[in-house]
Amino acid sequence: MQSPDFNAPHRTASGVTPQAVPHVRSAADGAAAPRVIAVASGKGGVGKTSVSVNLATALVNAGQRTLLLDTDLGLANVDVMLGLSPRFTLADVFAGRCELRDTLLAGPNGLMVVPAASGKRHMTELTPQQHVGLVHAFSELDLPIDTMVVDNAAGIADGVLTFCQAAQDVIVVVCDEPASVTDAYALIKVLSRERGVSRVQVLANQVQHAVEGRQLFEKLERVSARFLDVTLNYLGAIPRDEWLRRAIQRQEAVVDAFPSCPSAIAFRDIARRSRQWQSPAGPRGHVEFFIERLIAQAPAPAAARSAAA
Ligand SMILES: Nc1ncnc2c1ncn2[C@@H]1O[C@H](COP(=O)(O)OP(=O)(O)O)[C@@H](O)[C@H]1O
Ligand SMILES: [Mg+2]
Repeated sequence: MQSPDFNAPHRTASGVTPQAVPHVRSAADGAAAPRVIAVASGKGGVGKTSVSVNLATALVNAGQRTLLLDTDLGLANVDVMLGLSPRFTLADVFAGRCELRDTLLAGPNGLMVVPAASGKRHMTELTPQQHVGLVHAFSELDLPIDTMVVDNAAGIADGVLTFCQAAQDVIVVVCDEPASVTDAYALIKVLSRERGVSRVQVLANQVQHAVEGRQLFEKLERVSARFLDVTLNYLGAIPRDEWLRRAIQRQEAVVDAFPSCPSAIAFRDIARRSRQWQSPAGPRGHVEFFIERLIAQAPAPAAARSAAA
């Protein structure tokens, strides 16, 4: 499946199967469970895809084996932002035309990408069971990855909630517009009340000054502390940056295209901080990406340990 001509890629990407990716191990090798970070916002256009692409690229550049998953099933654009031409997308997986592994694309610097499809309306009408099915399909991907970044659609539909719930951390992107703040709150509320999400990382985007990011966070934090049982952490702020727009025009991550510009510096900082988050020790008892690997690496309960001794 090709992108339309007006998105002609700067670089051609080949579909790669896990066999073509170096260092492939099988699940039997006991590969550690990757950390999964979902990026969401409630409102559209605040910068989820820019954050996902640049966070994933910054992680790859820091030596992390990283997979970027596009779950914006109706209006996918991770592949467009990176100038990639997918042969197969998640739409083909759901149509039974290929396996999940066939969608894998080689992005810049070894970044692996699973693209979604644009303009396929039926992809926005998947059932909750199909969303859970996609989460579980990742357990079959025997890829050695350290981190998976999940770019989400706007809104608070079932797919967004399931992909956020299935991640270990959720970054909620917010910008200085009333609708962005109320939509971010709405998202955090349903994630906390309906999906058991207990901590959220708040990232302010398109800020004019650093203090603006902190103020946005404090607004969200005040209301959440009053009405919700969820911990909000302030992840930081990405400045509004003309270089980021130029990088998007060039279909490249800004951290690669203009590494010393203000947004690139901020993205590297966010990537560095995200690596310090404490991951939950084992599975949390609900839908989760890579659940089998989480179970395999979870510490054994005390009774089982003493029986084994
Ligand atoms: N930090 C930023 N500085 C300048 N422009 C930005 C920034 N973040 C996002 N944008 C602009 O906003 C547009 C929408 O961003 P995008 O990442 O596609 O949002 P979303 O995925 O939330 O819909 C981008 O095309 C870009 O022009
Ligand atoms: Mg997007």
